[in-house]
Amino acid sequence: MVKVFVFYDTKYGNTKLAAEKIVEGMREVEGIETDMGYVKEIGIGNAADYDAIVLGAPNHMGRPSRTMKKFIDRLAKLDLKAKNVVVFGTYAGKERLVDRAVKKLGKMVEKKLPNLTLISPGLSIRVNGIPGPIVEGELPKCKDFGRRIANQLKQKQ
Ligand SMILES: Cc1cc2nc3c(=O)[nH]c(=O)nc-3n(C[C@H](O)[C@H](O)[C@H](O)COP(=O)(O)O)c2cc1C
Repeated sequence: MVKVFVFYDTKYGNTKLAAEKIVEGMREVEGIETDMGYVKEIGIGNAADYDAIVLGAPNHMGRPSRTMKKFIDRLAKLDLKAKNVVVFGTYAGKERLVDRAVKKLGKMVEKKLPNLTLISPGLSIRVNGIPGPIVEGELPKCKDFGRRIANQLKQKQ
């Protein structure tokens, strides 16, 4: 069994919805166990026992939200069992395959969690304006992404 924890930050709920869909996709893959939590509510100690960590944040001023940055700083102080990490994010700007805030999130993770391998360039989900909602056609990408990373994680196990 591969245990995955999906941590998200959100202001308006869009990144939470994306996280839920990613989890839905992962759960379609046998041998994957998932948990999910909001970084402002979840006990960080929860992270230590998982095989992989997924981190998702909204784009705030071209970078991942400050709350997510702080959460990663806290993660960096734990003795994590996880070997792999995946990032995703939501953004409202010009359509891009990988939004710049997700790229920065990936770089942040590589720098601050050097014992973990970033196994994907990440997923970017576009929203309509600052409060959303998620642009049509973007949500199914989350489920596909979840399925894909779950299969990748299983192969690495
Ligand atoms: C303070 C603030 C700054 C933002 N800056 C950007 C930005 O630079 N580029 C962008 O594409 N979206 C930007 N956005 C839009 C957010 O990406 C959008 O609100 C977010 O993806 C919605 O996700 P959430 O519902 O999970 O909070 C910004 C939003 C806020 C609140």
